Amino acid sequence: MDRPGDNDAADAAAVEAMREALNELPFDGTVVIGEGERDEAPMLYIGEKVGSAQGTGPKINIALDPLEGTTLTAKAGPNALCVLTISEEGGLLNAPDTYMDKLAIGPGYAEGTIDISRSVTDNIRAIAEAKGVPANEIIACVLDRPRHDAIIDELRSLGCGVKLITDGDVAGVIAVTDPDTSVDVYLGSGGAPEGVLAASALRCVGGQMQGRLVFRNDDEVARARRWGSKTSTGSTRSRKWRRAIVSLPPPGSPTAHCSRASIAAAIA
Ligand code: FBP
Repeated sequence: MDRPGDNDAADAAAVEAMREALNELPFDGTVVIGEGERDEAPMLYIGEKVGSAQGTGPKINIALDPLEGTTLTAKAGPNALCVLTISEEGGLLNAPDTYMDKLAIGPGYAEGTIDISRSVTDNIRAIAEAKGVPANEIIACVLDRPRHDAIIDELRSLGCGVKLITDGDVAGVIAVTDPDTSVDVYLGSGGAPEGVLAASALRCVGGQMQGRLVFRNDDEVARARRWGSKTSTGSTRSRKWRRAIVSLPPPGSPTAHCSRASIAAAIA
């Protein structure tokens, strides 16, 4: 039986602790990715001002997830994160609360090695060639979901190692940066806000990530438009969902502040 933990209590404790800590810091911050829209989240909602120097301190944007991997935490499992990324104003994609297809590799690869518009097989072959190994030596991390069956089948037909995770794709993506995990590539869809957080971490250590927003209905498209994602650019229809490729992080954005040490700690 799948016994539930107390997800709400775990989340509430993390939200409160993060908000308290943020409000002690001397900046003029705005949450651009948070716990939800103002009417759905009492704390750390999108648009909430945080920091103790409103109007006087440096203006920053913050994307946060006080508890990424709520179920993992509620069950005392590994790889949950308390995660946030900070940039100058306008430096972060205001990702809507939709899914995002994700493709990520660690540092050391030439720009353009991966391309989310190509097939899984093409990407694996490109990574293997760049790494100088056969495709069956590539190890991929994927969220264990039925929607990923085709990806997993394709990886297995190439002979790749497949590391399936139950939750927590920010840690899954970050795993590509740490040789100790042996993970070469992260593939599959998960939360779009989590995609921005993971991309920021990769940006700090020279990894590469591409994302493609996945819209399941018109309401999600409307939410994306409201928060500024350019759904018209590069948008395609695939199966019954609409998809739009986004740059992660947006071109010209400053490097997010997230240290190598904190990334390493997140994987440990
Ligand atoms: P929460 O901590 O919000 O529950 O998110 C956990 C998570 O596994 C994310 O890491 C991932 O992006 C998303 O859920 C995947 O969503 P789904 O469970 O719907 O496949």
